[in-house]
Amino acid sequence: MENNGSKLWRLNKEEKKEEVKSGKALTIRIALSLLFGNIDSNDERQVVPMGHGDPSPFNCFRTSVAAEDAVVDTLRSATFNGYAPFYGQPPAREAIAEYISKDVPYKVSRDDVYLTLGCKHGIQIALTGLSTPGCNILLPRPTFAMYDAVAAYTGLEVRKYHLIPENGWEIDINSVEALTDNNTVAIVVINPGNPSGSVYTRQHLQKVAETARKLGLLVISDEVYEHITFGNNPFVRMGEFASIVPVLTLGSFSKRWLVPGWRLGWLVTTDPTGFLQKSQFMERVKEFISISPEPPTFIQAAVPEIIEKTEEEFFSKCINVLGQDADIIFEKLKEIPCITCPNKPEGSMFIMVKLNVSMLNDIQDDADFCLKLAKQEKVIILPGSTVGMENWIRITFALEPSILEEGLERMKAFCQRNAKAL
Ligand SMILES: *Cc1c(COP(=O)(O)O)cnc(C)c1O
Ligand SMILES: *[C@@H]1O[C@H](CO)[C@@H](O)[C@H](O)[C@H]1NC(C)=O
Ligand SMILES: *[C@@H]1O[C@H](CO)[C@@H](O)[C@H](O)[C@H]1NC(C)=O
Repeated sequence: MENNGSKLWRLNKEEKKEEVKSGKALTIRIALSLLFGNIDSNDERQVVPMGHGDPSPFNCFRTSVAAEDAVVDTLRSATFNGYAPFYGQPPAREAIAEYISKDVPYKVSRDDVYLTLGCKHGIQIALTGLSTPGCNILLPRPTFAMYDAVAAYTGLEVRKYHLIPENGWEIDINSVEALTDNNTVAIVVINPGNPSGSVYTRQHLQKVAETARKLGLLVISDEVYEHITFGNNPFVRMGEFASIVPVLTLGSFSKRWLVPGWRLGWLVTTDPTGFLQKSQFMERVKEFISISPEPPTFIQAAVPEIIEKTEEEFFSKCINVLGQDADIIFEKLKEIPCITCPNKPEGSMFIMVKLNVSMLNDIQDDADFCLKLAKQEKVIILPGSTVGMENWIRITFALEPSILEEGLERMKAFCQRNAKAL
């Protein structure tokens, strides 16, 4: 098992592509199943799941009562048991349009909003719409692996621009310019960042928008962690700069409302010039949506009330816990010599940290580290190679704080036990 895991992680690009095509993609889910499979069944301690961002099992991350009530009401009404229209129910589209309009200097219309089965479905729709023979797309490194997997399926060539760890994981504009050619159709920006935990400043986003304009790129802005910020920078929507460059905004209830299982997301043309709506790309997007499944109708019907009635207190409580978690992880990891954190997370639910395997005995790389940690300590974290950075690690800190501390203690014990004698 251990060797299989490591081998899969070490496949080269071509082999990985084949794995993806044959349905064995090294997605985060597959990596996680390998890690969970490596757990020692005789170890009676609880698993500490720091591998994927789903805080919903923890009491402190229960969704808002208002959101639960809204869904109960629409379900009980027995009026939303049928199919919904292709692009979503009009009141839900209207509510999302208003929700996004609050953060941009123009009015987003109901017709700009397309409801999706979570943000992942939005990614699938956007990349399918962009895929024409010979085209390529710019993705960040480190990445959210879903983009790579979907691009491989749709036949889009992927080029990776760099995020600079020493610079708060800002986008390396030079690498964006160097990678772009006449066949580059779009750049994906994830802000707040997964896996980086970064939150970009207004100035940086404007610079990215100006660069995209100069290079003729559509910007796909993944804002699934919208408003989940607890550092110095407030959340700014890329759509604020849509008069400079057309922006396709992706989002969902999954992370901000802590309900990834509700599968309610959106794809929005934040585009005051109307350029995007008239494009061939949007024709393909609509075509693909018309052959896609719709999000559950009773969840759609609850959208206006979920947005309107969720108390500010719910959001601030959640941000407070995540901010506390970010403090805990940043401080605790400093006690582990083989790990360095370039930045304290300022948003989302993740931190990327660098691993120095030469300080450890008999650990070959990040995948090996994570597999052995799962086996010895029942702690699940994600190897950086699954997000494009070998010998880094992605950790989610969206756990009940006491459980997070427990997980970090076990990581520390693991590193001490496996440390090379000086
Ligand atoms: C979690 C996540 C998604 C997927 O969101 P869903 O709404 O659960 O489909 C998309 N993009 C990023 C960056 C994420 O972290
Ligand atoms: C890219 O397009 C420009 C303008 O259409 C053209 O002059 C140039 O030769 C093209 N470059 C390549 C590498 O095809
Ligand atoms: C890793 O640790 C070794 C041993 O302590 C040290 O010599 C080396 O400089 C470290 N490498 C990095 C990249 O920090």
